[in-house]
Amino acid sequence: METTLIILKPDAVQRGLMGRIVSRFEDKGLQIVGAKLMQISPELAARHYESHQGKPFYAGLVAFMTSSPVLVLAVRGLGAIAVSRKMMGATFGSKAEPGTIRGDFGVSNSFNLIHGSDSPEAASRELGLFFGSGEVVDYDRPGAAWIYDLSGGAPE
Ligand code: RTP
Ligand code: MG
Repeated sequence: METTLIILKPDAVQRGLMGRIVSRFEDKGLQIVGAKLMQISPELAARHYESHQGKPFYAGLVAFMTSSPVLVLAVRGLGAIAVSRKMMGATFGSKAEPGTIRGDFGVSNSFNLIHGSDSPEAASRELGLFFGSGEVVDYDRPGAAWIYDLSGGAPE
């Protein structure tokens, strides 16, 4: 099982889309194992997006991410990183396919509703930035046996 960091960005919170976006992850069968409404500081935004430092959009990105609260989620499942990125769609709503979160809920070439870790290394680093010890919670779901095929011992 993989755990990924998802951030519902300030536009998602302000537009009242949190519930509908979280529902998509739950509907898919992914498990929410961490959730936190928070205001991101400029320092935290800088650490989170450190790979983008120096790019032309960097200052605007940090300003956007710190402009209003965000909902930070830890989302778990088989291949959760790639599955979540596919659900999110291309970076901007103007290009993202219908059926994806960005494709269905946005049209901007700047505000894009959601962040998802893009690799296991990024997920581990980003989860550590946003969640302290004990804030990602392991728990069993009674319906898990109908979300994955467990007959072979490992979830499929
Ligand atoms: P994210 O990291 O937020 O999940 O998005 P992503 O992987 O799809 O896109 P990435 O290339 O990592 O860019 C990070 C965020 O920077 C903003 N951005 N603006 N104006 C631009 O050309 C531009 N390019 C990227 C977006 O907010 C993007 O999500
Ligand atoms: Mg990215």
